[in-house]
Amino acid sequence: MSIQQEIDKRRTFGIISHPDAGKTTLTEKLLLFGGAIQEAGAVKNNKIKKGATSDFMEIERQRGISVATSVLAFIYKDKKINILDTPGHKDFAEDTFRTLSAVDSVIVVIDVAKGVEEQTEKLVSVCRMRKIPIIVFINKLDREGKDAFDLLDEVEQKLGLRVTPLSFPIGMGYDFKGIYNVWERNINLFTGENKQTISEAIHFEDVNNPELETYIGETSAETLREELELVYEVYPKFDRDAYLKGELQPVFFGSALNNFGVRELLDCFVEIAPTPLAKDSDTRLVHPNEKDFSGFVFKIHANMDPKHRDRLAFIKIVSGVFKRNTPYLHVRLDKKLKFSSPNAFFAEKKQIVDESFPGDIVGLHDTGNFKIGDTLTAGEKMNYKGVPSFSPEHFRYINNADPMKSKQLGKGITQLMDEGVAQLFTLDLNGRKIIGTVGALQYEVIQYRLEHEYGAKCTYENLNVHKACWVEVDNEKDQEFLDFKRVKQKFLARDKENKLVFLADSSFSLQMTQQKYPSIKFHFTSEY
Ligand code: G4P
Repeated sequence: MSIQQEIDKRRTFGIISHPDAGKTTLTEKLLLFGGAIQEAGAVKNNKIKKGATSDFMEIERQRGISVATSVLAFIYKDKKINILDTPGHKDFAEDTFRTLSAVDSVIVVIDVAKGVEEQTEKLVSVCRMRKIPIIVFINKLDREGKDAFDLLDEVEQKLGLRVTPLSFPIGMGYDFKGIYNVWERNINLFTGENKQTISEAIHFEDVNNPELETYIGETSAETLREELELVYEVYPKFDRDAYLKGELQPVFFGSALNNFGVRELLDCFVEIAPTPLAKDSDTRLVHPNEKDFSGFVFKIHANMDPKHRDRLAFIKIVSGVFKRNTPYLHVRLDKKLKFSSPNAFFAEKKQIVDESFPGDIVGLHDTGNFKIGDTLTAGEKMNYKGVPSFSPEHFRYINNADPMKSKQLGKGITQLMDEGVAQLFTLDLNGRKIIGTVGALQYEVIQYRLEHEYGAKCTYENLNVHKACWVEVDNEKDQEFLDFKRVKQKFLARDKENKLVFLADSSFSLQMTQQKYPSIKFHFTSEY
């Protein structure tokens, strides 16, 4: 098979949602369709269970499971589907943001009763920023929920999307009868006792056909006709180009638990979702069908075996063919490395592979060479963009609690930060180290791992920071910038790339600083 055929076969995407909307259930049902698993319940839930904040064994166990479920690949209709797993727990949102740099599209799952929730808003705003093609799946239609049109409105308003329903529910909750598939123009009905069986799709080119009544009854038929009329009138016609540009988002309705509306979603997905996309580097745009291999690290998974400090670096292949035992350039280190046992992922297993193609993810064993965002190439000196850090939500000083182990502590912190567990800022004024995280849970994870993997002990001290803002100036010699640095000295720090960061202690002080120094730009992400 030519490289172009391999590329055309691949669909690499992520499923995102607020916890409990049904991401795990949907993933499992997709795998069932792909024949990658045999029965429901086989995909282990990699959610860190609620209330498990201080149960470290649980966290460790979950970390183990999530390696296996980091990439779930299967074949469906001759397409190779790679699902990149995103942690549901909000304290691990940063991990999810980074995974979004490696997907070519996403499916957003929304709970029909809860509507658009906080975590969905955050994740979708990152997708929108990157113009990632999005499909929306409204889940749990077997339960009473919000009116379909109200929900579509909410999705448009809160998520800033422009939607077009490609399926539409017939009833809901107790009255849920099935789905009209706008994309294929057919009806799927729940049948049998307890609504557990699904009918064969009944083709209905024209819903005005009086036969509709015999299937769903007079009232439902009438309602469906009216609703579809509204759908066709109000929402734009599906346009694949607009979807691929991130300007139009198709919506599906269903129930992942009952496997309802999932096949429709998958069938449409394999037809419309993008094949692996070109990616921007600091020197040029790189196309997947280029001859030479290139890729980047978007995730690092720490030692499964604490005695061997072994890590797995996950590389998304952007161009060319990745080959086993071939030397590739680690651009940041300017060093050639080769890999004798690259792992590819299939269903829930990992296996050593000789070749991988654009869109695929390979897991490389690493002894500390890789950081999140690193680029590997066949020799070209370029760096992929788009794995930014986001401003953390929590900030604490980290102190060494065992002076005899300061070397171990330093090493542990560096490695954990390379893995992307949290962010480290070093104060300009006195060199004190600050750990920034998305959720409070990470502080416990860091403390535990420092002790168990590096033999170091730390304590934390609270610090009042509202946001970390990366500082951009046109000219570092500008008087305004020099004044800013002098006045705000005690709030200035460096991130791991030595970029200047302003640690604003409140939104008010950030606003005042912006007003006082208008030529300086403050960004909430490290890439701007
Ligand atoms: P997540 O990964 O997005 O966090 O959600 P997950 O799939 O774990 O689903 C959260 C809960 O919602 C689960 O119930 C799951 O069974 C339920 N669920 C998922 N899809 C549907 C659906 O279409 N209809 C209904 N009624 N429920 C759905 P749970 O009780 O929290 O967990 P479990 O004990 O069933 O695993």
